[in-house]
This record gives sequence, structure tokens and C-alpha cells, in this order.
Amino acid sequence: MATIRVERAKTLREKPSDETKLGFGTIFTDHMLIINYDEGQGWHDARIVPYGPIEMNPAAMCLHYGQEIFEGMKAYRGGDGTVYLFRPEENFKRLNSSCERMCIPKMDEGLLLESLMQLVDMDRDWIPAVKDSSLYIRPFIIATEPKLGVHASESYLYMVILSPSGPYYPTGLDPVKIYVEDQYVRAVRGGTGMVKTGGNYASSLKAQDVANEQHYSQVLWLDGVERKYVEEVGAMNMFFVIGGEAVTPALTGSILPGITRKSVIEMLKSWGVPVSERRITIDEIADAYRAGKLDEAFGTGTAAVISPVGELKYGDLVMNIGGGKIGPISQRLYDSLTGLQWGRTADPFGWRVEVPKKQ
Ligand code: PLP
Ligand code: COI
Repeated sequence: MATIRVERAKTLREKPSDETKLGFGTIFTDHMLIINYDEGQGWHDARIVPYGPIEMNPAAMCLHYGQEIFEGMKAYRGGDGTVYLFRPEENFKRLNSSCERMCIPKMDEGLLLESLMQLVDMDRDWIPAVKDSSLYIRPFIIATEPKLGVHASESYLYMVILSPSGPYYPTGLDPVKIYVEDQYVRAVRGGTGMVKTGGNYASSLKAQDVANEQHYSQVLWLDGVERKYVEEVGAMNMFFVIGGEAVTPALTGSILPGITRKSVIEMLKSWGVPVSERRITIDEIADAYRAGKLDEAFGTGTAAVISPVGELKYGDLVMNIGGGKIGPISQRLYDSLTGLQWGRTADPFGWRVEVPKKQ
């Protein structure tokens, strides 16, 4: 057991009065977690402190060269008040793989889980009870060394902040409209697309703007070399149901290995639905659409959960998928995944982790 120093907030923040209007990622809880790294000392001084601004040297390296990584997870309130996490060890494994790619010293995954459990337990009253709402958890690491030379920082801050949130898309489970981007690219093999680092998201904003101007909510990225293979959407992995088979782009090095993606593949296989992880071109999807074989398309992600795609625009072709309604596989996945996450159903895969009540 690690020692985690606790400084409780003297005045508590005001909780949202209407849990049906939380939005996503705008409200924060009473406490946050901080762990420092300094060369020679390693990761040290784990502490839970009142939520608030942090002081930063203007020369801190994360501000100049973007050496930072993050994760996204959720805590769910079950009907009897029990609090659950979903496969948290997977997030911490991915956090360390992001660290590895971004030259950030790795962290002890046991400490990450234990300290997160303690933080979530302290702020458990903030976990909303309203349907489809949860406590979004944002762990992140920033490079803090004050120096302008380009090299890996010698000091870092690991922090976790918590945000009671509703659905990521304001439309909830209604199908989203997605724009296939064939000019800008998100990532290339050998780059940083397969880890969660802020730069991937900063470089996606321009295409997101273009899509928004045309009333599309998200961008579907194509591969960075030939611009013909489907990769992923801004904050979710993609699945296409073609002639009864679920196809998802293979993890070729430029796509984020989503934990929801991995779970959906395991779930579909357990139901006997054929799943194929392979490279798939946008032309193959367009051909399947024209042939009437594109049954469903949906995105998967922690924030996005299962998000049906109702419209996909590629050049002049506008694909209307599923008549604007959620398809049967997407619906079954949504019900099964959320049932499991919120503790409404059994957990045959052993993915749910209870946050013990100690405070
Ligand atoms: N792809 C990108 C670019 C993401 O930001 C996310 C969200 O984390 C995902 C996919 C989905 O990953 P996960 O299911 O682990 O949340
Ligand atoms: C998540 O799904 O947790 C993410 O990190 C997506 C985020 C970019 C909103």
C-alpha cells in the first residue's frame, strides 16, 4: 500500500442541481490527485488535494513542445449505490505505453489504481445517478521542466481530475453524422497515433472545423499515406457491419487501441457474430453501401460508448445508414455494455471493478 497524503477541501464546491444537464467535461469535483516525478527521485509525493489551479513555470516544456499524455475512463454508480470502474488496468497499461512513446518515465500500475480508487471514493457523492451519466475520469501527465531546449523533460506531474458528465454527444444515442476527411490526416505509422497524446487532438481541430461547417459532428480519418484506408474517428474507433460481419480497422500503428473496441470485439465473438480486424478502404465501404450491404456503422469509446453513425459523407457520396435509427447490433452492444458498466447485469467477462467505500 502506497502512502497517499490527503488534504481535504475546506469548502465543498456546489454540486450540479440538475443531473440531466451535465454536458461533458465542464464540471469538476472537490479533489484531485497529484504525483510528482523528478530525475533522481522517481515518482514521489502522491497526494489528494482540493481541486484548483496549479502553478506552472512559463518555460514548462509541456507548454512548448507538447510532451504530455492522457487517459479517459469512467466511474459508474450502480442502482444500489455501488461504484464501479470498467477495466481500469487496461487504461493504466495504455498510459504506460503512451509514456514509453513520449519519453515519459513509466508509472507503477498498482499505485495508479490504488490512488484512483481513493480519489473516486473521496468524491463518490459527485457520481451522478441519472441514466447515461457517469463520473468521467481524466488522468494525465505533463512535462514540467522549465527549459526551452528540445529534449525529454526531467520533471513531470501526473494528475487525475474528475468530471460528472452526461453523454459525450449532445444527441445521445441518436445516430451521428460523420464527414470522411481526405485532405488532412491525423496520424501516420511511426508517429504517435497509437498513443493518447494531446498533439494528436490539436492537429485534428482544423478538419473538425471543416466538418462542423458542413454540419457534420465528427471526422472519420483515412490513413496518412494513401488516404484510402479507414482509421478512426476523433474520439472513437469504428465498426462497420457488412453482410452480417463486423469489420473494424486493424491496429496498424496509427490508430488508438481502444478499450471499448477491444471489449466490443470480445463481446461480439462471445455472441457468435463474426468479427474481422483488417484494413478496409473507404471505397469498400462505399461499394457495400451501394450494394445495400452496409447494415450498420458505429463508433466505440469511453466517452462516446457505442455511437451509431447515421450518415457518412465521402466526397459527393452521402451514405444514409440504417434509416437514421440505431441498428440491432449497435443497440445490443449498447445495452450489454452499459448494463455491465452500471452493474445492472452480470459480468461474465470480469471487467467490472468495484470501488470500495472506505471514507
Ligand atoms: N480513438 C481515439 C482517438 C480516442 O481518443 C478514443 C478515446 O479514448 C478512442 C479511440 C476510444 O478508446 P477507448 O475505448 O479506450 O476510450
Ligand atoms: C475518451 O473516450 O475517454 C476520450 O479520451 C475521448 C476524449 C478525447 C473526449
